[in-house]
Amino acid sequence: MKVNGTPYRSLWWNDETQKLEIIDQRWLPHDFVTQSVDTMEEFADAIVEMRVRGAPLIGATAAYGMALQMKLDPSDDAMEKAWEYLHDTRPTAINLRWALNRARSHLQPLPESERAAAALKLAHEIADEDVEINRAIGRHGLEIIKAIAAKKPKGEPVNILTHCNAGWLATVDWGTATSPMYHAHEAGIPIHVWVDETRPRNQGALTAWELNSHGIPHTYVTDNAGGHLMQHGQVDMVITGTDRTTRRGDVCNKIGTYLKALAARDNNVPFYVALPSPTIDWTVSDGVAEIPIEDRKEREITHIWGRNDAGKLAEVQVTPDGTPGGNPAFDVTPARLITGLITERGVVDAEETAMLEMFPEFRAAS
Ligand code: MRU
Repeated sequence: MKVNGTPYRSLWWNDETQKLEIIDQRWLPHDFVTQSVDTMEEFADAIVEMRVRGAPLIGATAAYGMALQMKLDPSDDAMEKAWEYLHDTRPTAINLRWALNRARSHLQPLPESERAAAALKLAHEIADEDVEINRAIGRHGLEIIKAIAAKKPKGEPVNILTHCNAGWLATVDWGTATSPMYHAHEAGIPIHVWVDETRPRNQGALTAWELNSHGIPHTYVTDNAGGHLMQHGQVDMVITGTDRTTRRGDVCNKIGTYLKALAARDNNVPFYVALPSPTIDWTVSDGVAEIPIEDRKEREITHIWGRNDAGKLAEVQVTPDGTPGGNPAFDVTPARLITGLITERGVVDAEETAMLEMFPEFRAAS
């Protein structure tokens, strides 16, 4: 998508330097900083510190990390170590394991001399596939938005609430939850997006930055505003992303998503989740019981970053000295609260039989 009119992906390969380039998302929405990532430590740090973030982007980054490892040392032993090293960076988004498993099963049968080139080619493929998958999600989501728009007075915008950033920054391009929004905007359907700030890391500010760059009307709201807005008929639908979806359709996404789903159910607001199929973990069923939830640093809760009036980025303390902060980064929304899953193959009920009908190749895995 575009940054000041220039098309960007959230990561790209620099043919000249033979290095991966990323956008260091820690400084957005204030500063647009790009960085090349060239050591295994830098790859791990980029994921842990959330320079790159969002389930699909973490997966694509890990694939490039494996490509680097194969250039440095293509042995089986080094591959295993790299798998574990990258896998241990963040526990919740399944795309990380998915990308690393795909790389490992692709590379293992190859002679060591071919692994570096094959790993890099595969990383490019994973990145390009992600773009096409998200484009397709956008086309399917567009149909839902169109149907809601058709029931509203002509010219009135469809009000969509989203949580966190499931935008192009969280994927390689288009985003998952935002792709239907971009498609609707391009199709001339008036939309307005309620952007949850998404404490503590305020990924909503990333979503606002994206929407702003594309001229999509939006309003940044506190995480607690959604229920109130729904009670007053100001939300026509919710679309979020997911970091891991179970085979029965439970969705694990950024902390606070569950509360939005509860409010949506109480107010008859349709609650959709947009996801690329690599985000489905066919090996787990009960999301609450089985998905590991990342616990992040206390400092993300007790302190907050922003730009001050002097134009400088600064961190300030919010809490009194000595107050401990708890920081679970994700929660699980049970399938029963979800209206539909918007995948690259179409919209499907959050339910095992329907999901397996749409993705029959995973019957054996479940
Ligand atoms: O902690 P983050 O910023 O990596 O969490 C991101 C989310 O929760 C997104 O909603 C999810 O990864 C879907 S991204 C298309």
